[in-house]
Amino acid sequence: MSEVRSEVLIKGGRIVTAVDDYTADIWVKHGRIEAIARDLSIDSATVHDASGLIVFPGGIDVHTHMEFDLGAAQTVDTFETGTRSAAFGGTTTIVDFALQKQGDTPKQALDRRLAAAEPQCCVDYSFHIILTHVTPEALAELPDLVNHDGVSSFKMFMAYPGVLMVEDADIFRAMRKVGAHGGMINLHAENGSVIQALIQEALEQGNTSPRYHMLTRPSIMEGEATHRGIRIAELAEVPVYFVHLSAEEALNSVVEARDRGISAYAETCPHYLFLDESEYDRPGFEAAKYVMTPPLRSHACQHALWRGLKTDDLQIVSTDHCPFCYNESPFGLRKSKQMGRDDFEKIPNGAPGVEFRLHLLYDGGVNAGRLSLNRFVQLTATAPAKMFGLFPRKGTIAVGSDADLVLFDPHQRHTLSASAQHSNADYSLYEGREILGKVQKVFLRGELIVEGDRWLGRVGQGQFQRRSASGRV
Ligand code: URP
Ligand code: ZN
Ligand code: ZN
Ligand code: ZN
Repeated sequence: MSEVRSEVLIKGGRIVTAVDDYTADIWVKHGRIEAIARDLSIDSATVHDASGLIVFPGGIDVHTHMEFDLGAAQTVDTFETGTRSAAFGGTTTIVDFALQKQGDTPKQALDRRLAAAEPQCCVDYSFHIILTHVTPEALAELPDLVNHDGVSSFKMFMAYPGVLMVEDADIFRAMRKVGAHGGMINLHAENGSVIQALIQEALEQGNTSPRYHMLTRPSIMEGEATHRGIRIAELAEVPVYFVHLSAEEALNSVVEARDRGISAYAETCPHYLFLDESEYDRPGFEAAKYVMTPPLRSHACQHALWRGLKTDDLQIVSTDHCPFCYNESPFGLRKSKQMGRDDFEKIPNGAPGVEFRLHLLYDGGVNAGRLSLNRFVQLTATAPAKMFGLFPRKGTIAVGSDADLVLFDPHQRHTLSASAQHSNADYSLYEGREILGKVQKVFLRGELIVEGDRWLGRVGQGQFQRRSASGRV
């Protein structure tokens, strides 16, 4: 089905990519960038004045969990609400997860998620497949998933024994298969068995408050698993990507591997850059809002992560948007932090954030002098596209690329809050944080979907993105 779209002309914006910074006009035709030049005049196009604004490529968030069903808990955003929230924050593509459940093959997991996402997504989307059962049947499907279904990245958990954790030998088996066919393995690196022993010990001693979530997941166990994951990947000859890297010990392992020329990559998330473990000192049950995995870390870790972004030992910032309500209503107990009021282990792990990534990184990164404008684009759009096989269709502003564009006003002030976000979550990790710089207009393949606080997009307009090889950056 080819849709006839009106042409668009974006005039006089400051176009910033991972490498460019210049002022020009962008002509969009059939959802793609047709031409970029000075003083374009196209009679058939709708004109948007971008003078005084920065034009960024649409953000790509490669780590979200929309309607993520873990049995005991389910995230509170649907594909519809979560992707609309993403759009308001300037993100035009997400890469979410398809979880292989007991009895599923990876393809069945993917098909189920495609069916749920297709009628709902407001921005473009793709999936990583979470492998939980590395059976011969599952292994046999992997080459076809990479080469024909456009899914070139597979996540495995070294944590959550009995639920999601995969043994080292199975990680190795999957890695070898995926590596041989142009895919990449994403690892959630924490030593799940040792952490489980710590959790059991804490609960036996009557330590049930949210703070113990942090105390039972020490950074040294993220470092250990990261090191182990790298060595297994090295043997299997597969690129390996660490999701939500939070600990300095883990970063040190990645740095050491990269210095040896190993294809090891990692993302971190805004909450690790802007918040620290002192949030767990909050009174009562409030700290449950900050229960995500890995937990918030020390100030020293935070400094190490900012350094990693500078040195390119961390290549991507994604959100790990995994939203639950703090209060019980109106979505039910399974979608609320209140499940773990008497036992920190039962607090659903995760927090909302998909809408805030660009604003936080622009204000706290670019404005604060920690990141250049080009590096900001690299971290939020270009590197995600290259790492996960979406480039050059996505992730940059160039002739022939999808016209996923963000018009950004660097002078507009606003305040992050739960009431201003479009997620179903009822709280924000960043309540009251003031930001200089705001997304003003968002285009998805040339269609204006966000204008200020107005939603102009359509439910279901997001398209599934078949990806080429991952990790060959
Ligand atoms: O707390 C988190 N991050 N929940 C989502 C699942 C995961 O580990 O990414
Ligand atoms: Zn994870
Ligand atoms: Zn400091
Ligand atoms: Zn996650």
